[in-house]
Amino acid sequence: MTRAKDCGIITKIANISLGGIKVDFIIRPVRIEDAEAINEMRRMDGVKENILGVSSERISGTEYFINNLTPNDHMLVAEVDEEGVKMVVGAVSLHVGGTPRMRHAANIGIMVHRDYQGKGIGTALLKEIIDLADNWLMLIRIELSVFVDNERAIKLYESLGFKIEGRKRFASIRRGKYEDEYLMARYNYNLIGN
Ligand SMILES: CC(C)(COP(=O)(O)OP(=O)(O)OC[C@H]1O[C@@H](n2cnc3c(N)ncnc32)[C@H](O)[C@@H]1OP(=O)(O)O)[C@@H](O)C(=O)NCCC(=O)NCCS
Repeated sequence: MTRAKDCGIITKIANISLGGIKVDFIIRPVRIEDAEAINEMRRMDGVKENILGVSSERISGTEYFINNLTPNDHMLVAEVDEEGVKMVVGAVSLHVGGTPRMRHAANIGIMVHRDYQGKGIGTALLKEIIDLADNWLMLIRIELSVFVDNERAIKLYESLGFKIEGRKRFASIRRGKYEDEYLMARYNYNLIGN
């Protein structure tokens, strides 16, 4: 279902079940006032490990990031409404290549608050950013990196058409180790054919 909100911005609305209670969430563009919730998510156990967050990240850094998003940067958040209390519980970002010969390609990052994972919010965010990439920016390639043991994320990406292209050895630090990541990508076959 969709509804018009915020002077014409169209937001999606769906609901999830939290402790048996149906909770609405919307997906909308990021706002500067979301910085605190995004900063908290990036630093929390259950998220930080898999997104390259560090515990010292400051809210001012997140505000700087949001304020400096360019026309090539797209960021959406998922916001739940629990009995009138609104809270940002997920975010996805897409960065389109800045150089002329890479403007057909983008990379993405995604996270969902630890207490709201496994409820379909990640899927909803990813579908929304893929629609933007495919049908409104007409990109050909979306790519990402994911730790090789991040099964939930890999399953989510594969379910929406991403494929593993390769393995980056010792790519990132996590809990005192240099860990491998998969490079995954999804191609827009509507534009390039099979
Ligand atoms: C990865 C992440 C974004 C997925 O979002 P989510 O809201 O938890 O995912 P969804 O509820 O939409 O579920 C996605 C798929 O994962 C599956 N899944 C759920 N829990 C799982 C688990 N513990 N193990 C494996 N798969 C799982 C779901 O079944 C679903 O597949 P389905 O649609 O076939 O049922 C989220 O878990 C997260 O933020 N994790 C920490 C940060 C992170 O890993 N970011 C990605 C970095 S590359």
